[in-house]
Amino acid sequence: MQHKTVIEPFKIKSVEPITLSTGEQRKKHLAKAHYNPFLLDSVHVIIDLLTDSGTSAMSSEQWAGVMRGDESYAGSQSWLRMEKGIKDLTGHEYILPTHQGRAAERIIYTYLGGEGKTFISNTHFDTTRANIEYSGAEAVDIPVAESGDMDQLYPFKGNVDLEKLQAIIEDRGSEHIGAVILTVTNNSGGGQPVSMENARAIRDICKSHQVLFLLDSCRIAENSYFIKHREPGFEHKTYREIAHEMFSLADGAIMSAKKDALVNMGGFLSLKDKGLADKCVNMLIITEGFVTYGGLSGRDMEAIAIGLDEVFDPHYLEYRIKSTTYLGNRLHEMGVPVIRPIGGHAVYVDAHLLYPHIRIDQYPGQALVCELYEKAGIRSVEIGSVMFGKYDHTGQLIPAARELVRLAIPRRVYTQSHMEYVIETFEEILKTRHQSTGLRIIEEAPYLRHFTAKFERLQ
Ligand code: F0G
Repeated sequence: MQHKTVIEPFKIKSVEPITLSTGEQRKKHLAKAHYNPFLLDSVHVIIDLLTDSGTSAMSSEQWAGVMRGDESYAGSQSWLRMEKGIKDLTGHEYILPTHQGRAAERIIYTYLGGEGKTFISNTHFDTTRANIEYSGAEAVDIPVAESGDMDQLYPFKGNVDLEKLQAIIEDRGSEHIGAVILTVTNNSGGGQPVSMENARAIRDICKSHQVLFLLDSCRIAENSYFIKHREPGFEHKTYREIAHEMFSLADGAIMSAKKDALVNMGGFLSLKDKGLADKCVNMLIITEGFVTYGGLSGRDMEAIAIGLDEVFDPHYLEYRIKSTTYLGNRLHEMGVPVIRPIGGHAVYVDAHLLYPHIRIDQYPGQALVCELYEKAGIRSVEIGSVMFGKYDHTGQLIPAARELVRLAIPRRVYTQSHMEYVIETFEEILKTRHQSTGLRIIEEAPYLRHFTAKFERLQ
């Protein structure tokens, strides 16, 4: 029998209670947090969709691995297992452990970057861009045109625009290109996948110009799922084989293990070239730790080794992608404007389309984030003009390209009934959408203001 319900392919062995609350209580919590859910205590959150990073539930095998963790300073058994797992998966020779993704970014982009250098990507994630710009270099995003159209059902909206890539390299000159960075899946562009064909073409362009090609691979297992099911020629390959092939195209990779390695902390940098690896190792030892642990404890490395294996389980990946798609499609059917096709780790709602009556400078995305919390205790994040808006010299807001709200799904944490609860909340939000009001910023930091900004609700 073919079942239409995709069940969670695990049983729950240990539970973490959720503290339920009333609407009245949440109104107070939100006011106290100045209408910024980053300032809420997590105990006051019922369903936390702030991020899929570091929020995975580990398996019983991983917890058993935590007990086995070898905490030796040098040559730890846990490191050897993690190193072997990553070498087998990536085919890259040199593996550097780091405490999370951005530490790997800092190490390599500090070395490759600097004044006069340009980095090119489908979309640089915030920390990637920040590390590159901090070095004095420039970060240029060139996603395919289809990525900007939220209803266009193009299967690989994470792809790089190859013509632009070629043109930028030729315009700036190869010697001025720090690297081409392919983010799989493309987090900032809606968790959209990149095809193998696109990755191969990037490899060819980089090779012919002698430019370094790196993968930002934190969601590569999810990307492999989309390739197997959408790209001709990959139907019979395993998810792991697909990921291995994509790694093999690149000169190196960065991974935040907090995503597809199914752990709460960790990351790595993998490289093919010894010369480059030697330079990075110097920086690793100075700032993260010795080469056999980086910024990690033995038990973290053990859990990463196991998680990187578990994530390629076909039943897990099917459940993972289908459950995100289920949430996104249900919202779409109800009339909630969402980016489609639904990406791997999150559903992105366009709050400007949902609340056309709220002016952009009154932050419709933040209004939705507040509604989700007040109505149901759901925490989400605004990815619009609060996060990316800037001011011109007269103090006018220069808005972001879109007013999105991200509902990121932690891995193996929530069940279908939690998702039904989210869907029900949106039913109510749709019904009362005209009553929602915007917000005004009353306090903000000069950089990354979304983390700490304080708001006031407009009536
Ligand atoms: N690259 C991508 C594509 C990411 O999504 C992230 C983190 C990083 C690099 C940095 O990794 O957090 O381990 O230092 N993304 C998180 C998010 C924070 O919520 O999307 P990190």
